[in-house]
Amino acid sequence: MELGSITELPADYRAEMAAAGVTPLWPILRDSLPRGTPRATCAPTHWRYEKLRPLLLRAGELTPIERAERRVLVLSGTGYGEAAAQATPSIYLGMQLLLPGERAPSHRHTPSAVRLAVEGDGASTLVEGEKLPMEPGDLVLTPNGEWHEHVHEGQEPVIWLDALDLPLLIYLEASYAEEAETEAQPRIPDRSAVEYVASGLRPKRPAGVAAPKNPLRRFPWKRTREALRALIRSGGKPCAEMEFINPETGEGVLATLGFCALLIRAGRQCAPARCSPPAAFHVVEGRGCSEINGEKIRWRRKDTFCAPAFASIIHEADEDSYLIRIDESPLHRKLGVYEERANV
Ligand SMILES: [Fe+2]
Repeated sequence: MELGSITELPADYRAEMAAAGVTPLWPILRDSLPRGTPRATCAPTHWRYEKLRPLLLRAGELTPIERAERRVLVLSGTGYGEAAAQATPSIYLGMQLLLPGERAPSHRHTPSAVRLAVEGDGASTLVEGEKLPMEPGDLVLTPNGEWHEHVHEGQEPVIWLDALDLPLLIYLEASYAEEAETEAQPRIPDRSAVEYVASGLRPKRPAGVAAPKNPLRRFPWKRTREALRALIRSGGKPCAEMEFINPETGEGVLATLGFCALLIRAGRQCAPARCSPPAAFHVVEGRGCSEINGEKIRWRRKDTFCAPAFASIIHEADEDSYLIRIDESPLHRKLGVYEERANV
């Protein structure tokens, strides 16, 4: 049965409800609880790197780092309207530029962030004194509450993709930042090069000495790529997927957002299950097409795109292609709403 609308109610009754601070549920019930599948505001969106790059470099000319603090162009999802600071309900994406000699000063905040290095060498992120080089394809974590800054000691512009759970924290009215009075100096080396050099190995600690909460903050692309290639060679499948995890707990790297690396063989298709969490994809290498709910996105190296909840996604690669998938699956699992449905 169709539910009643607000306009069917007498004007005096509507006015009295408004004055009393109440509203009837039935006109909005279906919007809040649609049948079978959630209503998605998130819409498939494609951000082409060839368009973003010149805009970022121009931002470098127009706005000195001191006036921007973080020189970022936000990737606005078309479902959320122009200039919206979100790509999915919980994922903010921004493309950030740091020029040689620049420093983005130290701060910390309640949203968690991941940096995915896109272009250029010589930049590093310092997190709680750990110096993490950012080479193209590297994934670098700055979990919530950890002091971090970016430095650039190289010779060419460096660009990376930021992914944060910022929209969620804003929705929860829990988003804020603090700035450091003094800039941090590197105190400890990149743990990916010292303590977690090989998978399956971790430093032995005396009884009662806990592992760091965020033990591995950098995932070098070279190792991720090798792992994907080994997996696809052994499986003979059209695609391979690896999850980024905390090596001490086996859990995801952040409480809210999950990260996977995906390799699709040249000339092959893959159609993953339709998942409850929306997702964003970044193309580290390759060229191909993803059909998202019937809409084709033709992507190439360094492009970014997103897909809504329960999207039917069919990836097809023209050449061996490596993508990073960012999604909200840790959050969905914690809430008990994670679901996969067959992609038919
Ligand atoms: Fe930050």
